[in-house]
Amino acid sequence: MAKQQVSELQMERLKFKPVLPAILKGGAASVIAKAGKATQSISDHEIVNSLFPNTYGMPLISFVKGGTTRSARSPLRPAVGKKAVKIGVVLSGGQAPGGHNVIAGLYDGLKKANPKNKLIGFLGGPSGILDNKWKEITGTLMGEYRNTGGFDIIQSGRTKIESPEQFAQTKKNLLENKIDALVVVGGDDSNTNAAMLAEYFKKEKTNVSVVGVPKTIDGDLKNEVIETSFGFDTATKIYSELVGNVCRDVNSARKYWHFIRLMGRSASHITLEVGLKTQANIVLIGEEVLAKQWRLSQVVDSITDVIARRAESKKNFGVILVPEGLIEFIPEMKELISSLNDVLADNEAEINAVTHLDDKRNIVYAKLPSHLAELMKSLPEAIGAQLMLERDPHGNVQVSLIETEKLLVEMVKARLDELKKQNKYSGKFAAITHFFGYEGRCGAPSNFDANYTYALGYNAAVLALNGLSGYLSSVRRLTKPASQWECGGVPLTMMMNIERRKGKEKPVIQKALVRLDDAPFKALAKNRDAWAMSESYLYPGPIQYFGPADVTEITTKTLQYEQAGKRGT
Ligand code: FBP
Repeated sequence: MAKQQVSELQMERLKFKPVLPAILKGGAASVIAKAGKATQSISDHEIVNSLFPNTYGMPLISFVKGGTTRSARSPLRPAVGKKAVKIGVVLSGGQAPGGHNVIAGLYDGLKKANPKNKLIGFLGGPSGILDNKWKEITGTLMGEYRNTGGFDIIQSGRTKIESPEQFAQTKKNLLENKIDALVVVGGDDSNTNAAMLAEYFKKEKTNVSVVGVPKTIDGDLKNEVIETSFGFDTATKIYSELVGNVCRDVNSARKYWHFIRLMGRSASHITLEVGLKTQANIVLIGEEVLAKQWRLSQVVDSITDVIARRAESKKNFGVILVPEGLIEFIPEMKELISSLNDVLADNEAEINAVTHLDDKRNIVYAKLPSHLAELMKSLPEAIGAQLMLERDPHGNVQVSLIETEKLLVEMVKARLDELKKQNKYSGKFAAITHFFGYEGRCGAPSNFDANYTYALGYNAAVLALNGLSGYLSSVRRLTKPASQWECGGVPLTMMMNIERRKGKEKPVIQKALVRLDDAPFKALAKNRDAWAMSESYLYPGPIQYFGPADVTEITTKTLQYEQAGKRGT
């Protein structure tokens, strides 16, 4: 078979050597895991505690310089330098740039501790664990994937390990493969699953550690000790390049309104970051819509107001950024979706028994409270159908398949027609819609993400080698140079609360939504009136991998504002 070709850029990127935080440079043998204060869940303490009796309240872990000696009473079980260990890794959920470097960091961290240590990758996400499908990550294989985008080295999937049989099967397959630790690279749902596995193994006295790695382009798996999830930096840089290009086209042609929906299943971090980077005319933030309790019609009015005001200056053009998750933040739509979730879950058999969409719709209309059935009937048919599409295995509506940007264009157009009739608007409205989502998830990781993911993977290896279980790999102080980053672990139960999923109350890792009192949103709020009426666009251009540090090493505006906010500047 002909040798697989790689692009010129990929050839160069294979040579990139991620900068390891100084603390990890000597490998697992050179650090001590220091236990901090005991932790508790975000809320619902008693319930979460009762559901995770073996892993609740564990301390934060930080790595400090030191040898392998520990006090006999230490709860940590160092595997460093002892018998060879075997770790399994699984990539779970949506792709995010840098996944391959997590595996590279894990691999290098393991081999540095003991060249006989082994790493295997479960194929196609958590289903690979259940079906016992895996491959060994060798040095040669790893060498082909360093610093590349994508999850294709072992692929990903969204299967959720939830039934007692699946837990038992997971235990059986891990023990049969003599796995000492499982590293789950995932978002909030996948890491919730990791927490449940860690608890299950402790309950069963199964000697398998579970360590999570914070992944998601959505940027919503973060807290005081997890500053950002990996992939957010690269994905937002890719979207910002594309949005910047559209802004420049808009400013050149001056005849279209572009409605751009940006990925981010729930939180609007991606849209906020891209808005700050490009200074588009309108940047909608779902969390603000929720805080203001806006109806769909008020969201539409906020857009038409800007369009009409710009039209007065003969500016019949502009760029509007729409977060993918907006639809779920509009209270009436949220109520509809939540009710639909229950109706679809409770009547699955009846709905699946009919094939015609109209029949499915009629069953749903009959089961919904009447005001919600009316709301659903008032939406364009295509949107109604998209709202009824199958939920993901975690019970989430698949917002990436709902064309909110088209819904808004249709409603804005209708509103502008009304205003025209009332002589309140005399502009021209021609709209173009875009959805930037999958384009950003597998890009070659930026230098930041290449370094960050390598450190997260290496750090996960050190956590696992210390026998720690139920922890998320944590690398902090990210606005400093990579060599100065701090490393450790955060108990997964610390990030949990109780939420309603698939019609039931469940313990889950809480999504970090955009906070309206935090610095990134405040920066938008301060500038958006000026951006609405002007063409203050910024054109970030493509990710730079080589060249001056000013462009190759910049982190996200979100991280910069958040960290500056914490320092009180
Ligand atoms: P994760 O939370 O698993 O990282 O996935 C996030 C995401 O990229 C969302 O932004 C998007 O809505 C969703 O995945 C799309 O899912 P799918 O790949 O299953 O279509």
